[in-house]
Amino acid sequence: MIPLFTLLFSLSAAAAPADTACLQCHGSMPGRLGAPVEEWKQSVHAANGISCHDCHGGDPTDPANAMSPDRGFLGKPEPTAVPDFCGRCHVGVADDYKGSLHGKALGAGGPNCVTCHGNHAVQRASLAIIDEQRCGACHAPDRAMKIKAALQATDDRIGSLEAALEPLHRQAFDVEDMKGELFQARNDFHRLFHTVQVSRVEAGAGKVGEKLDAVQASIDGVHAEIARRHRWGGVVVGLFVLMGLLGVALRRSLHAEE
Ligand code: HEC
Ligand code: HEC
Ligand code: HEC
Ligand code: HEC
Ligand code: HEC
Repeated sequence: MIPLFTLLFSLSAAAAPADTACLQCHGSMPGRLGAPVEEWKQSVHAANGISCHDCHGGDPTDPANAMSPDRGFLGKPEPTAVPDFCGRCHVGVADDYKGSLHGKALGAGGPNCVTCHGNHAVQRASLAIIDEQRCGACHAPDRAMKIKAALQATDDRIGSLEAALEPLHRQAFDVEDMKGELFQARNDFHRLFHTVQVSRVEAGAGKVGEKLDAVQASIDGVHAEIARRHRWGGVVVGLFVLMGLLGVALRRSLHAEE
């Protein structure tokens, strides 16, 4: 995980140039050489500043030598090289994948990263990727559905905690720490799928569940704080009303004396 974050920081510091030699030249080409540009524009990678050269290497500032191996151009990876290609950034996922039955069957009928995520139009990952058509292409779909079921409950819980943090954030409560913990738990959990082992998923769900309990406790704490503020707010309003009434009563009694 850490390498990805370090990378994120270094990338945001040197924000990917919006227009590179790669995008300019490939963007004007038809067919298989131009298609990646349009697909990539809709991807989670484009949204996070990961451009052609971040994956393929090369020099995005020099049209003449952009694809020179001397400038670090890697070209188009062979299917068996894809996990290492993506794994330069997604280190933890690649490790889980390589240790799995899928990783062990790489080059012998097993899927690689692109089989499930695509290459240029990669989207944010979710359990929706696990569908009968995609997984059923290679084995009985009920095995796929079993691992999906093992992931679903925790996934739903992460979703509802994320939803619970939003209104607190809007009410200007400091939820950054909770968001961070949840983000970490979410990443740890969403990686688990790549082991394709129901027992590992169940064990992992247990550990992530403890982290989620902690986030839930923090959220409950904030709600208690809100309730306390409301009570005090009520007391303060009550005091004001009381003072107002006293004022009126006092004025009346003064008038009465006149
Ligand atoms: C001046 C035009 C031009 C520029 C600039 C350019 N490319 Fe290409 N690219 C091509 C052409 C033409 C091909 C197909 C012929 C070839 O493989 O050399 C190609 C092929 C490719 C391929 C497929 C290679 C294969 O083995 O099938 C990749 C990947 C690629 N380019 C990525 C990049 C990246 C990344 C950059 C920027 C660092 C870049 N290109 C810059 C014109 C360009
Ligand atoms: C997330 C990493 C990633 C990014 C970003 C990326 N590519 Fe690729 N690209 C790949 C992979 C992986 C392949 C190999 C395809 C496969 O195995 O399906 C590939 C293949 C290609 C090919 C060969 C296509 C073919 O059908 O033979 C070209 C050309 C190409 N990329 C150009 C680009 C250009 C131009 C960009 C920027 C708009 C880009 N790529 C961005 C990962 C990436
Ligand atoms: C058999 C299909 C399959 C293969 C192969 C696969 N993935 Fe995934 N990937 C998924 C599914 C499904 C999810 C979503 C799991 C979830 O939501 O719990 C996911 C989630 C992810 C995530 C999000 C995890 C996070 O931290 O939020 C990343 C990144 C990712 N995959 C990258 C990769 C890379 C890199 C490879 C190759 C080394 C790969 N995947 C191979 C299906 C696959
Ligand atoms: C140069 C670094 C880099 C490379 C190489 C790379 N990615 Fe990514 N990827 C990122 C970053 C940065 C993000 C956005 C941050 C995040 O959400 O993790 C991302 C996001 C993703 C996501 C969405 C994660 C989520 O939370 O749902 C998936 C899936 C993914 N990448 C798959 C791939 C695949 C498949 C490849 C290879 C074809 C690949 N990536 C290559 C850096 C990279
Ligand atoms: C390109 C073919 C291919 C695709 C696509 C594919 N798998 Fe697999 N899968 C394999 C191979 C090969 C194995 C290892 C040999 C075996 O157990 O059949 C495997 C093993 C598994 C196992 C391990 C079962 C066990 O006995 O422990 C699970 C679970 C699994 N896959 C789930 C999925 C899911 C979910 C998807 C869809 C997101 C998917 N697979 C997509 C080829 C594929």
